[in-house]
Amino acid sequence: MEELTDLHPLHIAPDARQLVRAVAEDIVQAAEEAVRESGRFTFVLSGGSTPADLYRLLANDRETFRARLPWPKIHFFWGDERHVPPDHAESNFRMARETLLAHVPVPEDHIHRIPAEDPDAGRAAAEYERTLRGFFATDGEGWPRFDFVLMGLGPDAHTASWFPGNPTVHERSRWVVAPWVEKHDTFRITMTPPVINRAARIVFVVSGEGKAEAVRAVLEGERDVDRYPAQAARAAGGALLWWVDAAAAALLSRVR
Ligand code: 6PG
Repeated sequence: MEELTDLHPLHIAPDARQLVRAVAEDIVQAAEEAVRESGRFTFVLSGGSTPADLYRLLANDRETFRARLPWPKIHFFWGDERHVPPDHAESNFRMARETLLAHVPVPEDHIHRIPAEDPDAGRAAAEYERTLRGFFATDGEGWPRFDFVLMGLGPDAHTASWFPGNPTVHERSRWVVAPWVEKHDTFRITMTPPVINRAARIVFVVSGEGKAEAVRAVLEGERDVDRYPAQAARAAGGALLWWVDAAAAALLSRVR
């Protein structure tokens, strides 16, 4: 069911299971289109817990999703990473490897992990930016254009590692930064809004009543990217859409 809000198209799925099936279908169709157009699919994964069931579905549902994805032509990236080694329980890379990457035929050199094991988070961010610039072979002036970017939403309306009160939402030149996140007492490494916003397709996936207030604030609250960082995600030439389940949409008033 498609509902429109003032900001971006909003799709509401009845529950979390149907939410991930709908997003999986979106990914398959975007991948088919990207491979037709460019011979590859550049896919930016989000972290946290919400995407885990989506990743498992892509890897395991053989008839509906797995068989339709062009695995050898997909390049995987991360929108953000915790400042931990890749085998750490908190690692977004580890979650994606355990739920998806270890089970599908993706070439190792197509998995572009953030080197978050580096004790210097700023150096890890600079290294990842070099990786991205090399991959997209921009002439230094250009920006990358990812085919698909998955975004989650925290209860505090953060997305990627853009947290309330953090200057990351105002970054205009760097592709990857390493903000200190006071509430978690740690550094994070994250792509910046200019990089995310130029993607062909940015898809927020949000589930559960615990996110309902954040969804309302981001989509219907005052515009304030310092307070609601997910508002810094804005389509710049591509599409930005929200996939939420009914529980996460429960406080929206403008859903028609
Ligand atoms: C991370 C994510 C982050 C996440 C939200 C929602 O590294 O944690 O990139 O932005 O998407 O915090 O996380 P949950 O899905 O666990 O609620």
